[in-house]
Amino acid sequence: MSSGQNRTGATQRWSSDTYEENVRFVSELGAGVMEWLDPKPGERILDLGCGDGALTIKLIGTGATVIGADASEDFIQAAREKGIDARLIDGHALTFEKEFDAVFSNAALHWMTQPQAVIAGVARALKPGGRFVAEFGGFGNVAAFCAAIRAIGEMMGGDAAVDEPWFFPTEDQYSGMLEAAGFSVDKIVRFARPTPLPTGARGWLEIMRAPFFDQFGERREEALDRVISAVEPSLRDHTGQWFADYVRLRFAAKLSS
Ligand code: BEZ
Repeated sequence: MSSGQNRTGATQRWSSDTYEENVRFVSELGAGVMEWLDPKPGERILDLGCGDGALTIKLIGTGATVIGADASEDFIQAAREKGIDARLIDGHALTFEKEFDAVFSNAALHWMTQPQAVIAGVARALKPGGRFVAEFGGFGNVAAFCAAIRAIGEMMGGDAAVDEPWFFPTEDQYSGMLEAAGFSVDKIVRFARPTPLPTGARGWLEIMRAPFFDQFGERREEALDRVISAVEPSLRDHTGQWFADYVRLRFAAKLSS
């Protein structure tokens, strides 16, 4: 378990073990964006926000040389245990210079709340004509969870923004940022991806919103139960299966030559 400053810059605890149990699907759903990347043997690729490296390993399997970067020590440790060249790096402060054929990212850019700094670092890291291909949370992502947390936070006298360090842009908003940094956008789509939650709303909330619930001390369980009840009508189906109301933004862009 790691704690304190994490991949997001927010105070949050990450454990690669609990991540594995509750949100392993995050890397399993990365196949579509990997197809957009279309990695070639011998290419040098940066996996930005590599997490525990589950998808990085698949990139390496295509014959590319891949460096993983993440701001969570726990994830970097887990990625190194898989044999990955994984570096502890804040995505807002990339220091690579014209080194990569492509920068890839799955389910990480929404944690980086200064997107212009991230995009500028990616542009510096790419060779001229290099590709930036990524998928992350788009506008409307986890809206039911966020609305319930705000309502319960207000009702119980807490701060809903304590751990809401996310950036969920529209396709126009993100395209504009990419173009301002010298990229041309080949394709960009935003789509709903209701995603089954193996450990229900409770498992997701315990991992993703721990600081919000921790602020309630002895009333932590009460806050959790209240949020779960509030999202149940929209996130639990008639069979009892829970879903996260994920919205994804996926794009492929190219740096000018
Ligand atoms: C996401 O992958 O969309 C996500 C993960 C954690 C918190 C919020 C969103």
